[in-house]
Amino acid sequence: MATVEKQPAAVISPSAGPLLSVRDLKTYFRIEKALAKAVDGVSFDVMPDEVLGIVGESGSGKSVTSLSIMRLIPEPPGLIAGGQVLYQGRDLLKLSYPQMRKIRGAEIAMIFQEPMSALNPVFTVGFQLIETVRAHEKVSKQQAFDRAVAMLAQVGISDGAKRMRDYPHQFSGGMRQRVMIAMALCCNPNLLIADEPTTALDVTTQAQILELMLALKAQRPGAAIILITHDLAVVAETCQRVIVMYGGRVQEMATVKDLFAAPRHPYTQGLLRSLPAAQIGHERLHAIPGNVPSIMDLPPACKFCTRCEFVFDRCRVEEPPLHDLGGGHLVRCHLLEDEAKARVAGASEAPPQSGLAPPGVSSGSKPTGSSQAALAKPASHGEEAQGKALGGAARQDNGGLTPPARHEAARQKGEQP
Ligand SMILES: Nc1ncnc2c1ncn2[C@@H]1O[C@H](COP(=O)(O)OP(=O)(O)OP(=O)(O)O)[C@@H](O)[C@H]1O
Ligand code: SF4
Ligand SMILES: [Mg+2]
Repeated sequence: MATVEKQPAAVISPSAGPLLSVRDLKTYFRIEKALAKAVDGVSFDVMPDEVLGIVGESGSGKSVTSLSIMRLIPEPPGLIAGGQVLYQGRDLLKLSYPQMRKIRGAEIAMIFQEPMSALNPVFTVGFQLIETVRAHEKVSKQQAFDRAVAMLAQVGISDGAKRMRDYPHQFSGGMRQRVMIAMALCCNPNLLIADEPTTALDVTTQAQILELMLALKAQRPGAAIILITHDLAVVAETCQRVIVMYGGRVQEMATVKDLFAAPRHPYTQGLLRSLPAAQIGHERLHAIPGNVPSIMDLPPACKFCTRCEFVFDRCRVEEPPLHDLGGGHLVRCHLLEDEAKARVAGASEAPPQSGLAPPGVSSGSKPTGSSQAALAKPASHGEEAQGKALGGAARQDNGGLTPPARHEAARQKGEQP
């Protein structure tokens, strides 16, 4: 891997508040005369210097969220139906397309999930890199060429001056990924949105690319990264905070440390239990039952109710809000309602099993004792639970379920705990 050249500093002060604030973002697609809600009311902040992870199964709305931020949703069939995307206080959704083009690349850059969708197959890589630099900076062709070659060297393409003449198809998949990263970083963006930047790369290249992205970010004080990935180990190693998406909604948001130590949403718990390394010593592989529902057929209330092992009547008729558990930990699940209310009421510590029935729930709608217990905050696992790399996450093999809760759940199902 090439050494990283010194980059000019970004001019963002951490005290200036969030670099990016996404507020109640709604992105829909018109499909067969219906409106499919791919992203529905998503809100989050990205702070200066932060690496924010976004995880969730395929179709949960991760890419649509990032493409909406970049104003790259194809319209039609897409439509940004509401919300705000505040970048340093300016609502990107209100900018004209020429204004938005100035932001893209220079201020916010994106590494796309599909490298070929970002690279034009009929132009050389050099032409595309030079055009990207010159679109945002008043530099000569020679200066842009030199910058592009230097950038290629930084992403590990050492014979960059020669490779500038090549077309995208003349590069391997991993090389194309590197070219795309060079293109995304060559204007020194304040915010990099990396949508599965290492998908389909071998493990060594994956590590190199992530290392490079972090190294470049570290040289630009205030710069931030949104990292979209399926790989929870990468999140554990790379991010400070993480958002878990499902059904176009944020289901859980927490620091990486809290999420891996004590995942509270049944979906997040399922994701963590599905980690391959969490399965060592288990007879059966764990997988979240069922499939992600189509956005044409999302449940009207809790989006996860068709797959949740703790579902009860209320979940099918009323969507839970994001309950605030403190410390930036938000969870969209009815079972956390009492704990969040107790926190607001100033209870020093909310006993997770107190008041089993959420207020306003009829007896027939009560969650079972086992589901309440299962959502109980797991005891701290100290260093092990810090989510330091995969080991930390994977060794938390119960995905946040306390052993007594698992025994109780098994007992109720008539199984041997
Ligand atoms: N151009 C489009 N037209 C219609 N539906 C779309 C379009 N783009 C995305 N969608 C739908 O929006 C939903 C969210 O898609 P999105 O690409 O954000 O998922 P994702 O979380 O990024 O999944 P993956 O992990 O597979 O990349 C999906 O149901 C998808 O089919
Ligand atoms: S318990 Fe209910 S509200 Fe919570 S995730 Fe399961 S189905 Fe949704
Ligand atoms: Mg995607």
